[in-house]
Order: sequence, then structure tokens, then C-alpha cells
Amino acid sequence: MHVAVVEDDPICLAVLVRLAETMADCTAEGFATPACAVDRLPAGGADLVIVDYKMPGMNGIEFVSWLREQPRFRTVPVVMVTADEERDIRIAAIEAGATDFLTKPIDPHELRIRTRNLLQMRQAQLELDDRARLLTREVEDATRRTLEGEEEMIWRLARAIECRDGGTGAHITRVAAISRIIAEEMGLSSEHCRHIFLAAPLHDVGKIGVPDAILNKPGKLTDAEFDRMRGHALAGGDILKDARSDIVRVAEAIAVAHHEKWDGTGYPYGLSAENIPIEGRIVAVADVFDALCTKRPYKDAWSIDEARDEIAAQSGRHFDPACVAAFERGWGRIASTISKISGMRREDWDQVTGPASLDRVFRRAS
Ligand code: C2E
Ligand code: SIN
Ligand code: SIN
Ligand code: FE
Repeated sequence: MHVAVVEDDPICLAVLVRLAETMADCTAEGFATPACAVDRLPAGGADLVIVDYKMPGMNGIEFVSWLREQPRFRTVPVVMVTADEERDIRIAAIEAGATDFLTKPIDPHELRIRTRNLLQMRQAQLELDDRARLLTREVEDATRRTLEGEEEMIWRLARAIECRDGGTGAHITRVAAISRIIAEEMGLSSEHCRHIFLAAPLHDVGKIGVPDAILNKPGKLTDAEFDRMRGHALAGGDILKDARSDIVRVAEAIAVAHHEKWDGTGYPYGLSAENIPIEGRIVAVADVFDALCTKRPYKDAWSIDEARDEIAAQSGRHFDPACVAAFERGWGRIASTISKISGMRREDWDQVTGPASLDRVFRRAS
């Protein structure tokens, strides 16, 4: 515990410092004028301040007012030393922030008792502060772990869906990363962008209900098969509906809406323009771009430039023009993300267990 004494009478100062120093676990330091204390009070604060009332330049009340404006002294106990005839200034001193009083001439026994009580209070206050800080950190840690666990489970579920057509995680990662870039370029809030990034991998979760014979059919689908296929949008919505998690709620909107088209010719509802949730409009661009660039059982891979041209050509038809414009603005970042992802080998993917480790592996692979 550290005690600071501010007292202009040198003898009195020496006595007060000496008394404070003889208390258990105490160090003390004296200041001969308030100005000197204002200049040199320790940056780490003190645990108790003893201040005389009548001093040149700045009286004790002015000094306490100044002290209470310093963040490091806001809660430090302050004892004001007053002469008997100065009793009437005590209310003003309390208003200014003084904690306790001592009357001159100082009774050493009283000083020790009051000082010890105030230092005990200070100690308890510091312990409470420590405990509060520790609890805050524990709550933050627990919250982060819960969030990471949620993100990880969402990711693993999406991986399970992608496994059915032999994927490694690259497709959902590209769709997620491209969707985030589009969302950022559209100026959505960083939290919204993050939710879209985390939720986008679940866009095709409804494909779990589509038979392999249709999903992996080498050629064109019959009308009946395509109907069945289209059912994956609403099937995904059913799997994700009524979620408590914000991310899963975004995922539901994406699963249902990612095959809607800006001109109203999409499915499942044939919504158009801004009636389509913005997250669905964004993922539609990312999903089709990635589907075009990828070899499927029913089609060859297009080149990246052909796919980019197709996205531009569908602006205002299949896609929201604002999403296509954002896709174009983000093209540099999108191209480098795609090349980073294609540089990742199976061993790299094996280490990815969720969005957090994805970021780590991503940085290492690039
Ligand atoms: P997917 O393969 O992930 O394709 C997603 C979307 O990308 C498609 O939604 C479509 O909008 C676009 N897309 C993919 N390939 C092409 C293409 O070659 N040309 C053009 N213009 N657009 C393309 P869509 O059509 O609603 O299909 C949804 C899902 O249905 C597809 O997901 C795929 O799993 C399946 N599918 C669609 N057509 C066929 C097909 O002819 N044969 C088979 N086996 N599956 C198909
Ligand atoms: C003392 O009383 O020991 C010195 C402080 C004072 O009363 O001025
Ligand atoms: C946001 O900043 O995320 C809200 C804007 C929007 O949803 O379009
Ligand atoms: Fe889909």
C-alpha cells in the first residue's frame, strides 16, 4: 500500500510520512506543496492520500477536486487534515470527494486507526476490481468458446453435405469467402458480413434430402428430377427454421432464397428484386460463379473469365445489379482468394475444423 501526503508544514509533513511508513506493508511519500503533488504524484496512483486543508496556491478542497478528476485517483480514499476552527469546511470537502478527516494537532493513534481502516477498504476495493476483471475475462472467454463451437458445428454440418459429392470443403469455402467480399463491397455492417460468411456454407443443406441418383447424375435432369432438386431450397429452410442462433437464422434465409432470381423467374417462391432477402441475393452470385468454375457430373468447368462474364451478363436478370457491381469492385480480392483456395492441398483441408482454423490454415497456405 502506498500513501501520499500533501502538507506545506515541513515538520507536520515529516511526522505524517513517518507515521504512515511505520504501518504494516506501507510505503509513504511526502509533497511539500499541492503544485508539487500535481506534478509528481505517481502515475500508478496511490492507495491513500492525506492532504492538509490550508496550503498556499491551492487549498485542500481544490486539490481533492483536482484529484477526483484524475482517473487513477477516482476511487482512492482521501483524508483531509483540518484545524478545529475549520470544521465548517468539512461538508464542502466531502462534496469535493474527501473520504475522512483528521483534526490538528494529529493524534498518532487516531491517525493509525483511520489509516488502517481506509487501507483495508482500499484493499477490498482492489480485490473486488481484480475479481470483476477476472470474471469479465472468464465470461469473454466462455462466450468466445461458445461462439467458436457454434461456428465450428455449422461448418462441420456444411462439410457433411459437401462430402456427398466428394468435396473437400473448397466449394463451401469459396462460396463463403466470395459472399463475404460481396457483402463488404456493398457496405453491410461488419457483423452482417461475418454472419453471411459463416452462414453461406449451409446454402445447400437441403440437398441432404435429394437422392444420390439425382445429385450425382452425369447428364441433364428430367423435369421431375429437377423438381425434386428444386425442393432443396425449402428443405434447407425446414432444417434451419425457427433458430435461436443469429447465424442459423441468416443461414435459413440463404438456404430458402439462394435460387431466387432478380427478375422473378427463380425458385422456390419466384420472388423478385428487393423482395429477395439480401443474403440470398449475395450468395446467389457467389454460388453460381463457383458452380460455373467447377466441374460437375453434368457439366465441365468454365474458365474463371467466362464465369465472371456470365455473372456480369446476368446483372438485372438472374442477379441483383448491386450485388454484381459489388462482385466487380471486389474482383481483385475474389481472384486472389480463389487462387489461395486452389493452392490448398488435401492435407491443408484436413486441418480445417471450422472458420477459426480455416483462417489459420489460409494464412499459412498463402
Ligand atoms: P449447382 O451445380 O451447385 O449449381 C448451382 C447453380 O449454378 C445452378 O442452379 C445454376 O443457376 C448455376 N449453374 C450451374 N451450372 C450451370 C451451367 O452450366 N450453366 C448455367 N447457365 N448455370 C449453371 P440450378 O440450375 O437451380 O441448379 C441447382 C442444382 O441442381 C445444381 O447445383 C445441381 O446440383 C443440380 N443440377 C442443375 N442442373 C443439373 C443437371 O443438368 N444435371 C444434374 N445432374 N444436376 C443438375
Ligand atoms: C502532529 O500533530 O504530529 C503534526 C501534524 C500537525 O498537527 O500539524
Ligand atoms: C447492414 O448493415 O448489415 C444492414 C443493411 C442491409 O441489411 O442491407
Ligand atoms: Fe443450391
